Amino acid sequence: MIYLKSPQEIEKIRKSSRLVARALKYLKAFIREGITTEELDRLAEEYIKRHGGIPAFKGYRGYPRSLCVSVNEEVVHGIPGKRRLKEGDIVSLDLGVLMDGYYGDAAITVPVGKVSELAKKLIKVTEEALYRGIEMARPGNRLSDISHAIQTHVEKAGFSVVREFVGHGIGKQLHEEPQVPNFGPPNRGPRLEPGMVLAIEPMVNTGTWEVRILPNGWTVVTADGGLSAHFEHTVAITDNGPEILSLP
Ligand code: MF3
Ligand code: CO
Repeated sequence: MIYLKSPQEIEKIRKSSRLVARALKYLKAFIREGITTEELDRLAEEYIKRHGGIPAFKGYRGYPRSLCVSVNEEVVHGIPGKRRLKEGDIVSLDLGVLMDGYYGDAAITVPVGKVSELAKKLIKVTEEALYRGIEMARPGNRLSDISHAIQTHVEKAGFSVVREFVGHGIGKQLHEEPQVPNFGPPNRGPRLEPGMVLAIEPMVNTGTWEVRILPNGWTVVTADGGLSAHFEHTVAITDNGPEILSLP
């Protein structure tokens, strides 16, 4: 069952989501060769706490950190550690906040210094695909119109969308119904209504869409070692169309 949020609840999700967006902007300024992924995690956690939020991922199903940092062939759920970023890497930062009983969730992918043309194109196409999906998040459309818009944009560019991980409803819980796949035919699934809040999050690979999970039980990597990018926004469906809540 999809729980519809009141304007008061959406305001709370907006506050959490805005803190996520501000934290991501703050972290982006630290992305450079030499920084370790655990330093980024510490900066994220301190920033969230300093601004009155609770890191949403730490302890979620046993996840050990506040931030997910996924480098190059890592798709999502990279666990911060001693790894140092180097020039040419692309790095996805995924962050969630709980504040006043409501969650916000967002992700960005950023280049470390100068990166390949392929990496640049992947980042651009993945972010564009997110916005193609968001445009479809309006009353009257159906859920899979979002999915289809994302897949179409990605595949036109010659890339692939990950199938095994999807976006989600969000609110009093980090993951609520419905699941929001990044692929599929249009005009399927529930009709979108004002009050729905969705975390839309395309994960896009340069090669095959297939993935595997590292022995740490969390980190998702591309099956063929190709690059992967990830962008995510928390989006409310309103009478006037989509409202992106995870903006700074
Ligand atoms: N944005 C991701 C998601 O919505 C991050 C979850 S990481 C976890 O699933 F550690 F919380 F699981
Ligand atoms: Co999410």
